[in-house]
Amino acid sequence: MKLIIREDYDKISDFAAKYVRRQIQDFQPGPDKLFTLGLPTGSTPLAMYKKLIEFCKEGTVSFEYVVTFNMDEYVALPRDHPESYHSFMFNNFFRHIDIHPKNVHILDGNAPDLDAECAKYEEKIKEAGGIRLFIGGIGPDGHIAFNEPGSSLTSRTRIKTLARDTIIANARFFDNDISKVPTQALTVGVGTVMDAHEVMILISGAGKAFALHQAIECGVSHMWTVSAFQMHPRTTFVADEDATLELRVKTVRYFKGLMGTHLKLIGE
Ligand code: PGA
Repeated sequence: MKLIIREDYDKISDFAAKYVRRQIQDFQPGPDKLFTLGLPTGSTPLAMYKKLIEFCKEGTVSFEYVVTFNMDEYVALPRDHPESYHSFMFNNFFRHIDIHPKNVHILDGNAPDLDAECAKYEEKIKEAGGIRLFIGGIGPDGHIAFNEPGSSLTSRTRIKTLARDTIIANARFFDNDISKVPTQALTVGVGTVMDAHEVMILISGAGKAFALHQAIECGVSHMWTVSAFQMHPRTTFVADEDATLELRVKTVRYFKGLMGTHLKLIGE
């Protein structure tokens, strides 16, 4: 497990975008060799997406041979609703890069048979050869995607009822009105993300500090689903200083001491 600690949100976003660029470049994707990327929504990845758009526009990365799978989507929210994850991804990322829309995969929360939709999604990931790099954010309760506390750590893509904390946190996108927040979502499982070749988790702000502590300094627990990634052979947590506030000094010093090595990962 790696923990990259950078000063602030802007610096973690810069690191994450450069890391994605580097991974795609090194993979040398082509028409018969597509790079498969798992992607999150939320406030945390926004600045990373902005930087990747800049990199794409300046020509240092291309998404022409990249296939994406998003983590989750609300159930029964119209696809063109401004807060659907379809809208989020196209408005904040896909519309501004050179990806082929046919290579974009987002769960359909309005599918007539939601169980079949989830099974089909797992099948499509398999057909794409699995996910090379899955990027995620976490909630203050340690959820990854919509794998709320208590989710099985071997879970696959399925319907989940959102935890009250998540509904409250997401009300900011729905006029601060809890009653407008969808209560269910389709989400990849912890097991689905665990199957990725590599996982990068972005954590910003003091509000996530306790979750980061649980994620990396405590045991693996289904009550903090992100802690499962302690068991993944290639997980990188990318956190800003505020997110490290609940970590032991020993942990922070150890990982900060490795920064020289970590910066090589992005060619700096
Ligand atoms: P956030 O959400 O990036 O908006 O904080 C992350 C999450 O809940 O997974």
